[in-house]
Amino acid sequence: MVTLKIDGKEITVPEGSTILEAARANGIHIPTLCYHPRLAPIGSCRICLVEVEGLEGPVAACTTYVQEGMVVRTQSEELLRLRQEALKLILINHPLDCPQCDMAGECQLQNLVFELGLDKQDYSLREAKERGPKDFTNPLIRYWPSRCVLCLRCVRADHEIVGAGAIELEGNGYEARIAVKDEELCILCGECVRVCPVGALTERTSPVRARPWQREEITTTCPPCSLGCQLRLKVFEGKVIGVGGPEEGLGKGSLCQRGFFGFDFLNHPERIRKPLLRKDGSLVEVEWSEALAVIAANVNRILLDDGPQAVGGILSARLTNEEAYLIGRFMREVVGTSNLDSSARFNLEHYRGALQGAVGRPYLPLSLEEVRS
Ligand code: SF4
Ligand code: SF4
Ligand code: SF4
Ligand code: FES
Repeated sequence: MVTLKIDGKEITVPEGSTILEAARANGIHIPTLCYHPRLAPIGSCRICLVEVEGLEGPVAACTTYVQEGMVVRTQSEELLRLRQEALKLILINHPLDCPQCDMAGECQLQNLVFELGLDKQDYSLREAKERGPKDFTNPLIRYWPSRCVLCLRCVRADHEIVGAGAIELEGNGYEARIAVKDEELCILCGECVRVCPVGALTERTSPVRARPWQREEITTTCPPCSLGCQLRLKVFEGKVIGVGGPEEGLGKGSLCQRGFFGFDFLNHPERIRKPLLRKDGSLVEVEWSEALAVIAANVNRILLDDGPQAVGGILSARLTNEEAYLIGRFMREVVGTSNLDSSARFNLEHYRGALQGAVGRPYLPLSLEEVRS
């Protein structure tokens, strides 16, 4: 452990911590922009500058490691001036897009301008330069080069968290931009979008947009598979208009393509929200209690008439391990059968690959009638 002083407060933190980590762990705020807790720091934006006693100039808190007896100051007039200068340079080629930018109200750059009290811009470009087209790898993500602050959080997330290596920094100076290195490598996970601190990478799935204060946020479990990643649904007027990955959840904020982009089905008018029971030839919505009572009565009847081997269970691949285990025990110990199957098995990918090759899709394109016959 290392003991140091930050803003007069004596603190003890694990060896190998940065000044920023030490400060944050002890409730001391240092503004940042390029730093992200899940990424290796690169110290490029200079917003987190702090003074260390005995050192000639200020240092970046996100890349400077604590040392025994260190004395750190995070606030001073000079630090404020330096942070403001760094911010002015970042903003030199930034458009006045806030009113129509997706991130307004939750943009780290906008927040920094407010926090650092930047009320004037002393620098301007002799000639504003376009950084190329607003494009990205696919129809799901849009890149807004003029809003990009080149913090490289997206590239680092793509390389360090995802390991895809799909995007890179391209060019230099005012023409520098994030570019797709290899479209084939992008797995459409959206990690780059989630770590972008500004509105430079946005998802384009939802046609509806709303400001943070207009939205409700609901934390839930992602439905398409059994991993149980946490989702933060952005809900506006009863419709899901976006998804976030809460950092405190499983996966620490990472989601896959289905979790991050595949939320539109939640708003589908024909989405099944209640059990459907066939009555007089038509499917009718019923309460769960009624549906479960019908299932129990039918299973009991089959057990009495034909015995437990006439009953089988097909488990959804979206069940958690615990749920699958419980159903397995229920079927074996209560119903008395081992007739159980689920597509959640080790060779599922081979099976899906074979189907894809044979029939052009990873599932059997059969109707229930064809299965019966
Ligand atoms: S990225 Fe932030 S500062 Fe830039 S236009 Fe969007 S909201 Fe405004
Ligand atoms: S969507 Fe995922 S894989 Fe594609 S560039 Fe972004 S981080 Fe990389
Ligand atoms: S796109 Fe976003 S995350 Fe990537 S460099 Fe630009 S501002 Fe940073
Ligand atoms: S947050 Fe430390 S240099 Fe950007």
